[in-house]
Amino acid sequence: MSTDNRALTGRALVKNFGNVHALAGVDIDIPSGQALAIMGPSGSGKSTLLHCLSGILTPTSGEICLGGKNVSGLPDKSRSRLRLKHFGFVFQDGQLVPELPANENVALPLMLSDASRRTAISAADDWLRRLGLEDEANRRPGEMSGGQAQRVAIARALAASPAVVFADEPTGALDQATGHEVMQLLTTTCRMSGATLVVVTHDPQVAAWCERLVEIRDGRIHADSKTGGAR
Ligand SMILES: Nc1ncnc2c1ncn2[C@@H]1O[C@H](COP(=O)(O)OP(=O)(O)OP(=O)(O)O)[C@@H](O)[C@H]1O
Ligand SMILES: [Mg+2]
Repeated sequence: MSTDNRALTGRALVKNFGNVHALAGVDIDIPSGQALAIMGPSGSGKSTLLHCLSGILTPTSGEICLGGKNVSGLPDKSRSRLRLKHFGFVFQDGQLVPELPANENVALPLMLSDASRRTAISAADDWLRRLGLEDEANRRPGEMSGGQAQRVAIARALAASPAVVFADEPTGALDQATGHEVMQLLTTTCRMSGATLVVVTHDPQVAAWCERLVEIRDGRIHADSKTGGAR
């Protein structure tokens, strides 16, 4: 299989919530390994697009293809398995399990994908070291700063070697300097592991870390440009 097989495509995506047209027909091709930023006003449909592309939501109509394979029609259980195996997620905050130390949080998706606890914890410790968090491995999320917790979330998103990492406002709860540090880590770790990155943000400087910017207005793509990317 060529790496091209991991590219993600949305075709004629429509998502209605009652009479709210959150997505009104979106066509998007995301090449494998690309870092893509999605921007747009509040309520324009950014999170809905991310949730449809990642299989968290089923579109009202339209198709999602991963590596050329239509995955939108899969039953819920197969879609969950697909998410676990091929996708990583970083959200604004509150995504770590508060009762678990950092390394167990990172190991969780690996254990859910059938790795033994020992293998999973060892891989998690490696990732935490790579992200400069070796001293935090045994700390719970409540005992870490916001920036440290987001780095743990990045480690968790990447630990299972996903094809695509989806991030929704990953720096939204951080001060600007910490946010940019987190964004730099997110883009460089994705690039190093060859993962495609789709990141929703309100911050143009966060978007500047990506090589492509898609702007959403009223559930449609309003602009789509190559940005050069700061990474
Ligand atoms: N579960 C839902 N039920 C009903 N309406 C929803 C639901 N999720 C989103 N919407 C509506 O769909 C539209 C798009 O919402 P979405 O969350 O995608 O916006 P967004 O661009 O991510 O906004 P923000 O920048 O504020 O996060 C909005 O009008 C929102 O109210
Ligand atoms: Mg949103």
